[in-house]
Amino acid sequence: MCGIVAYIGDKEVFPIIINGLKRLEYRGYDSAGVAIHDNAELKVFKRKGKVQELIDFTTGKDTKGTVGMGHTRWATHGEPDDINAHPHSSFKDNITIIHNGIIENYASLKLALQKEGHVFKSQTDTEVLAHLIGAVKEQTNTPIEEAVRIALNKVVGAYAIVVMDKSEPDKLVGARKGSPLVIGIGDDEFFLASDATPIVEHTKNVVYLNDKEIAVIDRETGLSIKTISNVMQTPFIQRINLQLEQLEKGGYEHFMLKEIYEQPTTIADGMRGRVKPDKNVVRLGGLREYENRIVNADKITIVACGTSWIAGLVGEYLFEDLARMPVEVEYASEFRYRNPVITEKDVVLAISQSGETADTLAALELAKSKGAMTYGICNVVGSSIARVTDSGSYIHAGPEIGVASTKAFTGQVTLLVIMALSLAQKRGTISQSYYHQLINELANIPAKVQKVLESNSKIEYIANIFKDSTNALYLGRGYNFPVALEGALKLKEISYIHAEGYPAAEMKHGPIALIDENMPIVVIATNKSAYDKVVSNIQEVKARKGKVLAIVSEGDEFIKDIADFTIEIPDTEEPLTPLLSVIPLQLLAYHIAKMRGCNVDQPRNLAKSVTVE
Ligand code: G6P
Repeated sequence: MCGIVAYIGDKEVFPIIINGLKRLEYRGYDSAGVAIHDNAELKVFKRKGKVQELIDFTTGKDTKGTVGMGHTRWATHGEPDDINAHPHSSFKDNITIIHNGIIENYASLKLALQKEGHVFKSQTDTEVLAHLIGAVKEQTNTPIEEAVRIALNKVVGAYAIVVMDKSEPDKLVGARKGSPLVIGIGDDEFFLASDATPIVEHTKNVVYLNDKEIAVIDRETGLSIKTISNVMQTPFIQRINLQLEQLEKGGYEHFMLKEIYEQPTTIADGMRGRVKPDKNVVRLGGLREYENRIVNADKITIVACGTSWIAGLVGEYLFEDLARMPVEVEYASEFRYRNPVITEKDVVLAISQSGETADTLAALELAKSKGAMTYGICNVVGSSIARVTDSGSYIHAGPEIGVASTKAFTGQVTLLVIMALSLAQKRGTISQSYYHQLINELANIPAKVQKVLESNSKIEYIANIFKDSTNALYLGRGYNFPVALEGALKLKEISYIHAEGYPAAEMKHGPIALIDENMPIVVIATNKSAYDKVVSNIQEVKARKGKVLAIVSEGDEFIKDIADFTIEIPDTEEPLTPLLSVIPLQLLAYHIAKMRGCNVDQPRNLAKSVTVE
C-alpha cells in the first residue's frame, strides 16, 4: 500500500517520478503527489485521485528540477483528499516527506508536538512524522539524516520514507522498517522506490534496504547506509532480472487479461528445472537443505492473506492427500494475534505474491520466535518475506500488476504441487506409478490451460447474461472448494457483485435460502471422487430455480443436460484440477467487471501490496 519513488541525478526529475508513480499505482490510487527541489525552492504538487489527476493538475506548471520524490496513496489515516495526499511537510515547511506504512504512536507524538505549538494541516500520521523530524532538526541542528535517525528512534510502527530538506537540496534520505524500499544505482544518478518497477528502465543495479536502515544519497558523495542505531553498513548491490515489457500491457486491454493469458507460460516457468518428466522426478532447490526437517515436522502451518490464503488451502489438500502430513491454513492476521501452538518441530509456510504483506510478515516473525522453521513461497524476487524466511522458492510468474491476483495463484498452486510431490516421495506416501503419473500430467498443464483459454468467447457470452446479478454463489467440493472461494473472491473484488464461495454440500446449511430464479450459481463439477454428490447439489439448485453455470470435464454430457450453461475444461488428475478450473472463473469475473464498467486493474478500495495490518 502506497507507492514511493524518488530520484537524484542530472536528468529532469518530474517525468521520471510520474512514470514511476504509474508503475506503482497498483499499490494504491487514492491520491498522488510530488515534491521537487529546484535551487532553493521546494515545489510540492498533490491531488486526490489517480496519477493522471496529478498530471492534469501540473500541466503548464513549473516542474523543473533534478531531485525530487513522488507518492501514490492508499489511505489509512484521513480520507483521500488533496490535503491528506503526500508529500507532507514539517511545521516550518523546511522538511518534506513521503511515507508508506503506519506510525502507530502518532497520536501521542502529535499531542506532544501540539503542546510545543505545532499546528497540523492533515489528519495523517505521516504529517506527524514530518513535524517530528523537523522539530529534531531544529533542536539538534544536525544534518538531515541524523535528524531522521533520531526521530525514527521515537517511532513505533511501519515505514518506508523518503525525506527532503530545503537546506540540503543535494540530498535524499530514505529509511525503512516493515515496508519495502529499493535503491537503484545508475550512472551518477540514484533512485529510491517501493519496488524495482520504476527503476528497471534506468538501471538493473539495486540495493534492497533492510529493516531499520537509513540510506543517504548525496549528489557529491553517493550512497551510504547506516542503521537507525548508527552503525555503518556496506551496501550489497544486486542485479535485477526484470524486463520492461513485463511491466507493460503488450496489446491487452487490461493487465488482468494479459496476466490470465500468460498462465500457460508462467506455470511452465514455475516448473522449469523443477519438474522433469523425462527423468520422472521433481526437484525444488529451496527444499534441499531443509527437506529432512520438513519431512519430519509435526505439522505444516500455512500463513497467508487473500488469494494466497486460498492457494494455501489447495496446499492443505495436496500435502494431506499426497504427503500425508497434517496441515493447518491460517489467515496471517488471525494467527499473529492468537496464541497459536507452534514449536520448533513445526514448519510455517508463508505464501505471498508480493512478499511484503504486513500480516504475513508478522506471522512469520511470531513463528520464528517460537523456533519453527520458516519457508516462503513468493513471486517478487528480493521481497521481505523471501529474505526473512529460512528457505523458500519463487513462483517465477513475473510482475503481476492487476490488483486481482490471477497468475500468482496458479504459480503458487504449481509450486505447492511440486512441494507436495517431493515430500510425498521422500516420506514414501505415494506409489511410484502415481508419482510418475502426476509428474507427467503436471508437464501437460500449460497446454491444457491454453485449451481452457479457448473458451473465452463462450465465457464472455455467459458473463453478459450474469452481469446484472446482485449476488452469486460458487460451489465446489474437495480440490474444487478452494477454487469456489477464489472464483467468488475474483468476482467481488473487481465487479463489486456480492459473491460467496461454499463447499457444495454446505449449501443446504444456509446459502440455499438465497436461491431463486435470479441467483447465478457457479458449480465446479469436475470432480471424479464426489461426482454424484456434486450432481445432486446441482439438482438441488435447479429444484429451486437457480441458474447454474457448471464447470465440467470435457465430454460431460450428463451435467450439460441439467445445468443452464457449461464450460468444459480438459480432463486431468484430481490434485491438479485447480490449475484448470480456476481459469474460467478468472475470465468470468474479468468480463463481468468490464461489462459493468468497473476499473478492472484498479478496483476501488483495494491495493495489491498490503503493507499495513
Ligand atoms: C491484497 C491483494 C490480493 C492478495 C492479498 C495478499 O488483498 O489485493 O490480490 O491476494 O493482498 O497479498 P500477497 O502479496 O501476500 O499475496
